[in-house]
Amino acid sequence: MKLLEDRILNEGEVLKGNVLKVDGFLNHQIDPELMKLLGDEFARLFKDSNITKILTIEVSGIAPSLFAGMALNVPVVFARKHKSITMDNNQFSTTVHSYTKNITSKITVSKNYLQENDNVLIIDDFLANGQAGLGLIEICKQAKANVKGLGIVIEKSFQPGRQLIEETGTRVESLARIESFMDGKIIFKGE
Ligand code: G4P
Repeated sequence: MKLLEDRILNEGEVLKGNVLKVDGFLNHQIDPELMKLLGDEFARLFKDSNITKILTIEVSGIAPSLFAGMALNVPVVFARKHKSITMDNNQFSTTVHSYTKNITSKITVSKNYLQENDNVLIIDDFLANGQAGLGLIEICKQAKANVKGLGIVIEKSFQPGRQLIEETGTRVESLARIESFMDGKIIFKGE
């Protein structure tokens, strides 16, 4: 998505450890107009998949997911990384290891909000090592829901995430795919 690539080029900052900082529109301050365009694009890509639910993970997956949910007219559920005081034990859960942050978290989704036969579009902000995506796929498996695809805002294609997700038979659609960070310069796939 050209518009997203331009925003990444203009505002993104490559930090050490191959981390892209996009706090100005995605990970800290959020640009609602851009999020709407991203959500609409996810909806367009998955319009024939009979999506009944969007599943994401807190925090930064929520904003683009909301707009995709609006466009597809389906509810948006986010997996929690911390136990909420309102949550009972009626949950699907699994653990997700973040290589980037070197922490393991338990992620949970209430059984009330993910049903057998739901057609689920999973959305997240970054695809790096794929662990968040695999965790969300596992949650869907526990619910006996159908995973129709994974929609990603920014994929770091030089990391193993896409391959790991595709090996589960899941369709992956990323709105921007970064091939490499060469000397701090952002190179997109296909350039
Ligand atoms: P994964 O997301 O594919 O599982 O890979 P990884 O374990 O490496 O990522 C762990 C966390 O780091 C995730 O955020 C992911 O979005 C984030 N991350 C990975 N690479 C980058 C990057 O280049 N730039 C930025 N900004 N984030 C990156 P999280 O823990 O789920 O955090 P949040 O959504 O609550 O912000």
